[in-house]
Amino acid sequence: MHAVTVPPSSYEDPIVAPHSLQGRRVLVVGGSSGFGRQVALDASLAGADVVVVGLDPSKSHATAQEAGALGHGKASALAFDVTTDAGRARLVEAAGTVDHVVSTLGGRLGDHVREDDDAAVREVAERKVADNRALVDAIAGSVRDGGSLTLTAGATRHPGEHDGHGAVEGNDEIQELVRELALALAPRVRVNAVAPTWTQTPLWRHHSDAAVVEMRHRMEALIPLGRTADIREVARAYLFLMTSAFITGATIPVDGGYSLT
Ligand SMILES: NC(=O)c1ccc[n+]([C@@H]2O[C@H](COP(=O)([O-])OP(=O)(O)OC[C@H]3O[C@@H](n4cnc5c(N)ncnc54)[C@H](OP(=O)(O)O)[C@@H]3O)[C@@H](O)[C@H]2O)c1
Repeated sequence: MHAVTVPPSSYEDPIVAPHSLQGRRVLVVGGSSGFGRQVALDASLAGADVVVVGLDPSKSHATAQEAGALGHGKASALAFDVTTDAGRARLVEAAGTVDHVVSTLGGRLGDHVREDDDAAVREVAERKVADNRALVDAIAGSVRDGGSLTLTAGATRHPGEHDGHGAVEGNDEIQELVRELALALAPRVRVNAVAPTWTQTPLWRHHSDAAVVEMRHRMEALIPLGRTADIREVARAYLFLMTSAFITGATIPVDGGYSLT
């Protein structure tokens, strides 16, 4: 019989330990709202110390307080515009060393831009990719070996759809970016993305309630599962990717089958 060596705790097991967020430090850029807020709360419940990053300090603090009250770990708040060199430098300095980074940077990807305005469409798409690339370039050195970066893509191009628009192009390119960065940062750090489709989050706060209801109904009719996501269903995918130590370069669609249609 072979002797089986059982490590004293799963925390020390090289295979199992990365699958836990217990005691890990998770930085959530976009953590003060929508998907990112839910990721911060769920990571905190899973035992992580969370650092919530947004633009508005009061919103970051509010989420950090919620996370701290829910979980067992520590929760802190930062507020910087991470789309600027200065903001990213301040973030890196303030964040210290982390195990996992989540970014929901991207915004509405030009839903205010006319789809036949090619230059404007390219600009919003390139902006999402450039902002996330710059963020990864700045923060990757602060991620501990074995850690991860998880970006946010979104609904992808449908077969036969040729017209470019900001959301489609920007999100397709995030998937490309994730594959490129995954290879560049392997084996030290994994890079993945979550691709939600239309979900009712504060992202749509600039639209009237009636317009948001109309958008939701339109998407319910297009999504094979017949409904839009609950924010918590999307947040689960970020936690899954953070804690799946053998997944890199992947984008998980959390879209009820929308990207299949
Ligand atoms: N919701 C959808 O229907 C949907 C569908 C597909 C893809 N997406 C993608 O999901 C992401 C948006 O997530 P969401 O729906 O959760 O949006 P959200 O509720 O508007 O949250 C955006 C978060 O990003 C932060 N933020 C924005 N600009 C920033 C900056 N320059 N520096 C630092 N933080 C910044 C915001 O901080 P403040 O709150 O302080 O402003 C907020 O915490 C985007 O990448 C979008 O393309 C969304």
